Amino acid sequence: MYTTYTVAQLGEVLAGYRRAGDRVALVPTMGNLHAGHMALVERARELAERVVVSVYVNPTQFGPGEDFEDYPRTFEADRERLLAAGADVLFAPSTAEMYPDGPTAVTVSVDRVTEGLCGAGRPGHFDGVATIVTKLLCAARPDCAVFGKKDYQQWVVVRRLARNLLLDVAIEAAPVVREADGLALSSRNAYLDPAERRTAPCLYRSLREAVRAAGAGGRNPRELEGQAWRLLEECGLEPEYVEVRRRDDLAEVTDLGGPRVLLAAAHLGGTRLIDNLEFGPSDGTLEE
Ligand code: PAJ
Repeated sequence: MYTTYTVAQLGEVLAGYRRAGDRVALVPTMGNLHAGHMALVERARELAERVVVSVYVNPTQFGPGEDFEDYPRTFEADRERLLAAGADVLFAPSTAEMYPDGPTAVTVSVDRVTEGLCGAGRPGHFDGVATIVTKLLCAARPDCAVFGKKDYQQWVVVRRLARNLLLDVAIEAAPVVREADGLALSSRNAYLDPAERRTAPCLYRSLREAVRAAGAGGRNPRELEGQAWRLLEECGLEPEYVEVRRRDDLAEVTDLGGPRVLLAAAHLGGTRLIDNLEFGPSDGTLEE
């Protein structure tokens, strides 16, 4: 496995792969790799002969007062994990490399799909994500890039940016990887104390329970959201948003008549958790 720190080094390695006719898949990450990230690497290996994983904690997607400074950085462990998983290239650039003329020199912003949900509570976050993902796609020019459905809105944002920047890249998704008790794996789970960790699976349980109840009864998105909200509060989580949206483009919906996704963010102590659940009658049942 090559470890590259500059766009020039990365370009040299990738040029060799392209000469050999190999396809390249990119997996963007902020490091502190866990089984959720490794599932993306596995998916990437199925899609292309060569897999590049970027590890870069992108400052422009963190708001003031968010956890940029505290975000866990575990570079050596990440490198070992990627080596064992058979990744071909680890790309670990510096901020000078990714933002040569500073963070505001060129930015990418995506409309509509960035507006509600996490975009409402984290202003500027998706501009930071769109900007860094665009730069990583420019640096690696991969055939495909793999994202997790854990960050569902991010996946939709990246699809919209790739399509509208006319980038010749396939944006692929992998399902959410969860702990045995349902909690979605996240680097931020490390912030939970033992009591909070026992409470945290309530987020996914509440989403499932509300979708199940909607299938049995009213089929009204507002009722479904209201029930999920109450279930979250009952177990001591503080909901930030709970919304049913259309799957494709996250448009608001007034019925449950097509492919839907229930998305939620909730606070537990000082930790912000997000999760989502795809459902809809198009899958044969409302429940999924
Ligand atoms: P990060 O939080 O490190 O996540 C990197 C990728 O791993 C994202 O596509 C995310 O959705 C996926 N992922 C995280 N936890 C997952 C889980 N439990 N199951 C499945 N996939 C999971 O997302 C980012 O970094 C950044 O915003 C980035 C795209 C790298 C831009 O800086």
